Formats: sequence, structure tokens, C-alpha cells
Amino acid sequence: MKITIYGAGYVGLIGAVALAKVGHDVLLLDVDSYKVAQIMQAISPIYEENLTQMLQEVLSAKRLHASTDVELGVAHSPLQMICVGTPTNSDGNANLTYVKSVVDAIVTHNHGKEKKIIIEKSTVPVGTHTLILQWIEAIGGDLDLYEVASNPEFLREGKALYDFMHPDRIVVGASSSWAHGLFSELYRPFTEQGAPLLFTQVASAELIKQAANSFLAMKISYANMLAEVSERVGADVGEVTQGIGLDRRIGAQFLQAGIGFGGSCFPKDVQAFIRTGEELGLNLGLLRETLQINARQRDRLMSKITQALGSLHDKRIALLGLAFKPDTDDVRETPALYLVRELLGRQASLNLYDPIAMPNFQKSFKASPTLHYASNLQDALNGVDAIIMLTAWEEFIHADYATLTKTMPTKFIFDARNALDANVLRKNGFVYYGMG
Ligand code: UDX
Repeated sequence: MKITIYGAGYVGLIGAVALAKVGHDVLLLDVDSYKVAQIMQAISPIYEENLTQMLQEVLSAKRLHASTDVELGVAHSPLQMICVGTPTNSDGNANLTYVKSVVDAIVTHNHGKEKKIIIEKSTVPVGTHTLILQWIEAIGGDLDLYEVASNPEFLREGKALYDFMHPDRIVVGASSSWAHGLFSELYRPFTEQGAPLLFTQVASAELIKQAANSFLAMKISYANMLAEVSERVGADVGEVTQGIGLDRRIGAQFLQAGIGFGGSCFPKDVQAFIRTGEELGLNLGLLRETLQINARQRDRLMSKITQALGSLHDKRIALLGLAFKPDTDDVRETPALYLVRELLGRQASLNLYDPIAMPNFQKSFKASPTLHYASNLQDALNGVDAIIMLTAWEEFIHADYATLTKTMPTKFIFDARNALDANVLRKNGFVYYGMG
């Protein structure tokens, strides 16, 4: 079946490639003609596991086409899926400018006056579907021609294609039986493999997206709260979370204590959910505390560092891991941004290293004599007084630190992800600090 997707960013491109892979005829629209040309040559603008290979496959099968032509996009299908960005404004609200411009374009170019389903796929605040209807009306669109549906995504960066192809559930908020029929057909290749398709009201689907991400963030903060308590009582937070995670009602995932969550989703989505609550006159205190605990982890790590090293003036520190999590080059809301700022503020000299995120990170900081971007792990560890492991890349987990740090005077190592083997490090003379 045919579908039009607006926005060749992260969600749009992944969705387009995956839906084409399962046999649909996908037209992917973007305003950026360079990006469109790149995609048509099977050059992916983002790094994601298996993406280039699958992109090549669906392009040669002619099931995916990218274009800047909105008229083509509107005429292509009744399913008009919006996947453009919704960045956070300085006031904490989601910026819906790009969503609105797509809605305007769809209505303006619907020359055949065909019935369309406008699908919210981008992360939007609860209630956006009613705004979309208002926008349609404001530019003279016929409300009888348009239905708004919400079909949130739950993709993890790095595993996005896998997640799209193997969803735990597909959530669709839509009201008409016409829409239900089209979505059932769209997602049949997945439901046939056992994925549950949950039809809900539109507002419920919008809420499910925010509720799911906030719940996961809350789980991480809960583990980090336990880390703080564990330190006080001499418990090991890894053992504690293992012990509670084995209860199937709790589940073992997203209980890894450490420096806290970052990335483009959790901090923004929790913040947006708190704002939604405020607008509704509700104080979502549980979520405020989730963010506070998250921020506290960074301060706790800084205190551990300053307590161990004393003044950081003239100390050289290796900071391993700049991406917000392993297997991505994404540095949005990465704890490294905060740590580098704090450490530079205290006059430390830094050796920074990340297997793939260094170019992105470099854009955030001016070159300075106290900031050295290392060419490899050994280079990062040469001549340092302390090591901070911030992102649990395999390369850092399996590194032979004893051999790599032969000349280190006192071997301070701060494991901000609780991912290293503390016993082995201690045996090799390291002074090891974890997070709980
Ligand atoms: C998340 C959701 O998982 C996904 O469903 C949603 O669509 C988008 O947001 P993503 O941001 O790609 O995906 O990363 P994820 O793997 O979920 O990790 C988020 C952050 O939490 C990372 O900074 C990670 O390091 C941290 N985290 C995760 C922990 O600190 N502890 C954990 O136990 C799990």
C-alpha cells in the first residue's frame, strides 16, 4: 500500500525504509534537496545499524522514493505521516512550527479534495491533534476531508531499524473504521509476526508516548536513587537492582544506575510532560523528582572527583565517552557536555576520546590548549592523573587499563556507568569509584 512520510530525519527515514522493506510503496518528503538527493543515492544522512544496506535494497526495489515535491506527496496516499522535528523551545514547550508547516502544506496542496489521514508520528504534546484540526480550519481546509491520528514511535537510537521491525506493540490513536482498516493493512506485515496492534483514542495514543518515555526515565532515576542509598549503607546497587529486577512485575531493564539519562528523548519528553501537567493545573512531582535525581548524578560524580583529587588545577584527566550512550555519535544532552564544562571551569586539562562521537562533540566547544582530542585510547590515557569512563562503549569495557596506564602515578578511575570490573581494576592497583 502507499504512504507518504514527511521529514527525512531520524524517525522519518527509519520508518520509510522499514515500511518499504515490508513491501509498501513509500514516498519520503523533505525540504532539504541535498538530503533527498543523498538518500536517492543510498547515502544515509544518519548513522544507524543496517540502515545503508536496507536503504540500498528498497531503492533498487523501487519501493522507496525521496522527493521535495509536496504536491506529489499529498497525491500519493491517504496516509500522510508527519515525522518532522519537534525541538524544545527555551520555555520548555515543544516547538510545533515544522509540524504546522507540513499540515498547512498538505491542506494547501490537496487539489483533488481527497480524504486524508494526518498522522502524528513526531513526539508531540498531548492535545496536539486538536491543534492540528484548528490549523486546518484556520487556513480554510474542509474538516470533513481530514482525520488526525496518532501513531507514536518507540525507537531506540542505534537499534531503531531493529525496533521498527520487531515492535513490542504498535499504538494507533484513530477514531474512524476507515482509519482502522488502513492502519491494519499498513502494519499487517508486523502483526502477522505477532506484534500487538492497539487501537486507542487519539489523546490516549499521544499520552502513551509521553507516559512510556517518562516511565523509563523514572525507572533509571529510581535506580540512581538506590545508588545513593547503597553508598550510604555499604550495599552494591548492581546487586540491589538485580535483586528487584528479577521480580517480573518490576523487570530488569532500565535499572542500570550511573551518570543518568541523556539523549534527544528522555530529558525533553519528561520536561514536556511536566509542562503538559502545568497547563492542566497538575503538579507531576514524580517527574520533577525524576529530573532532579538525574541532574544530581552529575554533581555526585563531580564531588567524588574533587574529593579524590583535591584541586583540579593542572590535573590532566582522561574523559572516555562523549556520546550520550554507546553505538551512536549523538551528543545531544550527553553528560559529557556538563562534565567538560565543570572540569574546565576548575582549570583541569582534559584528554577527550570517543570512538565515533568526537566530530559532533568538537562542534560544542572552542579549541583550547587545555582540551586535547585524543586519536585513540592510548593517546587519551597518556600522562593523565585520573580516568573518567562516561559512556559504556565495548572498547572501554574491555580495555586493558593496567597496560595502558603504566606511568600513571595514582591510578584514579571513575566509572560513571558502573560498567567496568571493579575487582580486576582494584587488583591492578586502581583506586576505583563507581556510582553506588
Ligand atoms: C529512548 C527510548 O528507549 C525509546 O523508546 C524512545 O523512542 C526514545 O528514547 P534512546 O534515547 O535512543 O531511546 O536511548 P535509550 O537506550 O533508551 O537510553 C536513554 C538514556 O538512558 C541513555 O543516556 C542511557 O545511557 C540511559 N540509561 C538507559 C541508563 O542510564 N540506565 C538504563 O538502565 C538505561
